[in-house]
Amino acid sequence: MNQKSLPDAVPALFPQAADRERIGNWLTLELEESLRRVQAGPVAPTIEMQEFRAELETFDFSRPRPLEEALRWTIQCMEHGIVQMANPRYFGLFNPGASFPAQCADRIAGSFNPQLASSASSPVPVALESHVIRAVARRAAFGEEAAGHFATGGSEANYTALLCALTAAHANFSAEGVRAFSGPVRFYTSRDCHIAWLKIAHQAGVGRTALRLIDTDGRGRMDPNALVRAIAEDRAAGAVPVMAVATAGTTGAGMIDPLHACADIAKQHGLWFHVDAAWGGAALASNRLRGVLEGIERADSITIDAHKWLATTMGCAIFLTKRADLLSEAFHASTSFMPSSISGVDPYLNSVQWSRRFLGLRLFLALAAAGWEGLGAHVERGVEVIERVKERLLASGWEIANDSPLAVLDAIPPADLGDVRTLVRKVVASGRAWVAPTLFEGRDVVRICATNGETKMEDVDALIAALNERP
Ligand SMILES: Cc1ncc(COP(=O)(O)O)c(C=O)c1O
Repeated sequence: MNQKSLPDAVPALFPQAADRERIGNWLTLELEESLRRVQAGPVAPTIEMQEFRAELETFDFSRPRPLEEALRWTIQCMEHGIVQMANPRYFGLFNPGASFPAQCADRIAGSFNPQLASSASSPVPVALESHVIRAVARRAAFGEEAAGHFATGGSEANYTALLCALTAAHANFSAEGVRAFSGPVRFYTSRDCHIAWLKIAHQAGVGRTALRLIDTDGRGRMDPNALVRAIAEDRAAGAVPVMAVATAGTTGAGMIDPLHACADIAKQHGLWFHVDAAWGGAALASNRLRGVLEGIERADSITIDAHKWLATTMGCAIFLTKRADLLSEAFHASTSFMPSSISGVDPYLNSVQWSRRFLGLRLFLALAAAGWEGLGAHVERGVEVIERVKERLLASGWEIANDSPLAVLDAIPPADLGDVRTLVRKVVASGRAWVAPTLFEGRDVVRICATNGETKMEDVDALIAALNERP
């Protein structure tokens, strides 16, 4: 038998405990200082990308560098090389300044690196995630039988919904795919939906033409009559409608499709009813706001992104369904190497992913530290920020195009401020605030959304000053 000792662990990858502690403590302080600069600094990236690429080229990995040097360089580049979600003057797309409990969760998950595929490998994390899923399901009045899991994002959760709808629509879909259906598959959502649905149709193998984009009602909400007409037309043409999707909080305007009307239509036509509440679902946290989602409890499935208004770190969505059996049907697999194979329990048997990160800890720690009350207050605060922005814009001659109960405004500037796209480019380039241009019911608008939980009145004032600067 070979008695030679093994080589040491590679120290650059697995430093001694004292070095880990020193570097870890330094990193914590460094990130805190960096955050202070980021919150006070420009929102848009300021890095000179040509210079950055040249520096990047020097990392040819032919010789190692001290980790601290690489960490310092990375933090510096991050400070200047991204749109800063942690900046309270970021009023942009639904990317939050991450809550501190969620950041702590990432440290813990990174340190233990649990494998959440199986309940035998990670009994505690799997039970903890399931506990959080049940708590969210209760907020949605989804009943104690509801099932679900954490996903990497709204797109994955929505993809899961389509797979469930297809699996529910035909007993042979699981074995034969779309060949099981008597005609081409169709599913429906409003033309103001998140357009990742097209990619989802592609991925699921039903083809992009399976998605029918339904007209809106002039206020950015799906028109139920247009939905009924589309279903009837498709049926008459031999197609097979499988799912209706209502958006609860459209990406562009925060509009909520008429949930009861959509639920009625889906039920009447035997379709799966999914609510894409990727952003708006956070309103469930607030006792004052959750009423705006009334009807969501009638869905077969729901998508909620915790990495949007619930302020977790990136890549954290929730998929909920009342049909646990369909998750097991859609994602079952069997192999001898997995440490457990319990249908309905083991995440790898109930979801798209196999190996999986401990995502649910982010929301668990946020809920543990703040409770529903605290998370609700965070969501309500966003609505209040937007109310203040709205008052000030109206007072300075702007028009508000959308009528959302959520924390987003689609605003139209007075004519002397110039066209929307030029104005937005100018505001973003100034670094003083970040907003986006979008289209709402055919009109160019400035989209202003509260996503940062620390925005103060002085940040609102800075935004208004930047928006109102005459050319
Ligand atoms: C309504 C809606 N659905 C789905 C998505 C996609 O979610 P994700 O980016 O988490 O994949 C978004 C993203 O903004 C969204 O607003």
